[in-house]
Amino acid sequence: MKSLVLSGGTGSRLRPLSHSMPKQLVPVANKPVLFHALEALADAGVTETGIIVNAGNTTIPAAVGDGSRFGMAVTYLPQDSPRGLAHCVLIARDFLADDDFVMYLGDNIFASGISEELEAFRRNRPTAQLLLSKVSNPSAYGIAELDGRDRITALEEKPARPRSDLAVTGAFCFTPEIHEAVRNTKPSWRGELEITDAVQWLVSHDRDVRGTVYPGFWKDTGTLHDLLDCNRVLLEAVEPGVQGTVDTLSRVYGPVVVEAGARIERSVLVGPTVIGAGSIVEDSYVGAFSSLGRGCRLQDAGVESSIILDHAAVHGVRTLHDSIVGKGGEVRLCADSLPRHRLMVGDDCRIEIPA
Ligand code: TTP
Repeated sequence: MKSLVLSGGTGSRLRPLSHSMPKQLVPVANKPVLFHALEALADAGVTETGIIVNAGNTTIPAAVGDGSRFGMAVTYLPQDSPRGLAHCVLIARDFLADDDFVMYLGDNIFASGISEELEAFRRNRPTAQLLLSKVSNPSAYGIAELDGRDRITALEEKPARPRSDLAVTGAFCFTPEIHEAVRNTKPSWRGELEITDAVQWLVSHDRDVRGTVYPGFWKDTGTLHDLLDCNRVLLEAVEPGVQGTVDTLSRVYGPVVVEAGARIERSVLVGPTVIGAGSIVEDSYVGAFSSLGRGCRLQDAGVESSIILDHAAVHGVRTLHDSIVGKGGEVRLCADSLPRHRLMVGDDCRIEIPA
């Protein structure tokens, strides 16, 4: 069984981060979202993966390489522009050949992996099997209706009056019958080839399409809040350990990772938290659910429930929470004695300031 991992797209909801990096490479618990996906697929026994990337993108191939570090062979499949999830299946036709495959959205997190679900698909081999997740706000999702035997009887995109609370997640197991469905799918009102339309085609043509309710934590990391939620959940599972140095004036509470070359001085760390390799934390407080990338610098800082990307810095500001600071970004107290903010705000940034 192959996998097709979708890592193109616009990432418009994650600007400005997605201006300078594909959203699938944004780290949660200090590891790119895409790496979590590839690890879940490798754990499920997948050894051949096609990764859809935006045409011209070089950062994903540079980060993932030939896939050997994940124990799989990776083929890159460039997409000229984001023309929809079913378009990805269309352009992967030669790579997929006539094999069964799991299509996995590269910005999705399935916290407990998908091994059992893939095993069930291999065992029963329906035409298609979608992973579903119970949600509290079904109007925001593609929603599946099931009969009493886990067969999907209908799919509806963002229904105003939802008939179920089962959202279609980012993992779809397919037999080669999906190719006929994709060939018969027309672009939607937004001009994209929608995978829900292709699956609906299978349902309408009486094929065996099943839904499995995923029992664990699932989320797509489309927005800042989704990323922070995923960071919180995945940090809970991180194995604590200190490879860097923590001086005797510092205090560490709960599960904390301090990677090699990181230095903690006169500071308090509260886990679950990860401090990336080579980062320096001085006279600071790093609260629970924070992850610092590599080479970050915190001085007289307070950071909580936040993601700080590589080489970013916080100086003198003790109130950062639920925040993301991009690569090399800097948040610092200014010498100005007046209570005013001096900012250089990049395109599509969002800054929230207390009233
Ligand atoms: P989305 O999150 O639906 O699309 P997007 O990246 O364009 O996001 P936004 O709405 O914020 O602009 O895509 C789900 C996943 O599929 C994501 O990993 C990107 C990928 N994708 C492709 O690879 N090709 C495509 O044509 C589309 C639409 C998405």
